Amino acid sequence: MAIKVTSRSLEILIAISHGAEEKLGPQIESQLRKAIRTGTLHPGAPIPSTRDLATQLGVSRPIVVDAYAQLAAEGYLTLRQGARPRVSASAPTAAARAPIPARAEPRVRFDFLPAVPDLASFPRAAWLAATRDALATMRDAELGLSDPHGCAVLREALAEYLGRARGVVCDAEQIVITSGFAQGRALAARALVARGAKRLAVEDPGYSEWQTIVAAGLKLAPVTLDESGMRIDALERASADAVLVTPAHQFPTGVVMSGERRTALVGWLRARETVAIEDDYDAEFRYDRAPVGALQSLEPERVIYCGTASKMLAPVLRIGWLVVPYHLLRAVQAEQLLADYGVSRIEQHALARMFASGEMDRHLRRMRSRYRARRDALLDALAAELPEAEVQGIAAGLHATVVLSGDDDERAILEEARRRGIALEILGQHRLVPRAGSATLLLGYARMPEATMRVAVRELRDAIRSARSTAASRIG
Ligand SMILES: Cc1ncc(COP(=O)(O)O)c(C=O)c1O
Repeated sequence: MAIKVTSRSLEILIAISHGAEEKLGPQIESQLRKAIRTGTLHPGAPIPSTRDLATQLGVSRPIVVDAYAQLAAEGYLTLRQGARPRVSASAPTAAARAPIPARAEPRVRFDFLPAVPDLASFPRAAWLAATRDALATMRDAELGLSDPHGCAVLREALAEYLGRARGVVCDAEQIVITSGFAQGRALAARALVARGAKRLAVEDPGYSEWQTIVAAGLKLAPVTLDESGMRIDALERASADAVLVTPAHQFPTGVVMSGERRTALVGWLRARETVAIEDDYDAEFRYDRAPVGALQSLEPERVIYCGTASKMLAPVLRIGWLVVPYHLLRAVQAEQLLADYGVSRIEQHALARMFASGEMDRHLRRMRSRYRARRDALLDALAAELPEAEVQGIAAGLHATVVLSGDDDERAILEEARRRGIALEILGQHRLVPRAGSATLLLGYARMPEATMRVAVRELRDAIRSARSTAASRIG
């Protein structure tokens, strides 16, 4: 996007001393020279006009004109009649400040990355209207730092929505607005540590952004899964103090935690007198199964429920929410105050209006049918091009789990796909404990239009074949 440069006057960090031995012109020259050489002023950057700098420094304009002319002669500045003076594009800068050349990544031609929703479908007009309305109606006092744990309007809208759509049982005051699940998980982990927790059981494979949990002071206890979700016998052996789960749509396998397994998990929570952190990241997108309520609805006092706007709308918003049992609420809120003063209130008001106006429900309905069509196109393309593959985890979410034959090397396929401009992930990237198993690809379909799907899957098939033949020629 081109940002229009107006004739505004620019400020620059230069200080001169009127009483110093060195004359004013050379002082200006040496400071600008130093700023350019050290990289605080970048090549091509605009600098103040001679008139503005003279006014800013309280010197006569010819002094600045002479200083600029000298710097232009030395190759530091570019001066053109009628144009704003700039640091020369080829100005001599310190080598250490030279930009690090970006690693040449092949251009992404087909984007199957599993974690990102369809950004092109962001409801820009509705969001703009909600933001405009928020700005028009927010009181001046609401532009201050009130409500560090979330604006009342958003918490109320979420309490209503989560009860209605996810079966979550809560009062608005139990909701803590965070900057995405990333922060929600960190706050929950720190609050558990403050209560004496040492080990957190996590699904393996799982959502591999585990660093914040470790940084909070928890050890990770990996627990295996089967087709019903996290194995409770393995959880019992893990001697963990709490557990993190994705019951509605396990990431990355796509498994839905069965009713029986949920009951067993609640039994474990009761027996250990502890809590689960429930990551309910994309449950809105379910296609051909009945809605499964949140785990939280079964045992509200033993579940910290986490939701996010990242899949519903877009990750750029950085808005998530925790529903915290009362006995942990103060501890989580205290951690939030240590972390920051909460999420942008204007965005929170806009999101509240998206829920209240019905725009969010409309958007989710529209996206559900768009994603279903894309998922079906992916299934058709896989059936035609890769009939040997077993496709799992397709009842919900934004990606499919594609299991290939045991002999395939998923890392080699990932590399070959990347070389061909196909972006995807593999199960191995989300394993805490490396394990042998069938090569498994994670294919996000959210951003792939139906019309492109067949071509993309054909390219992927070719990448798989190529990886296979490279492996065969190595063995041969
Ligand atoms: C399993 C899972 N949980 C949660 C999130 C959302 O994280 P955040 O709200 O920090 O964007 C993601 C995003 O990719 C995810 O894959």
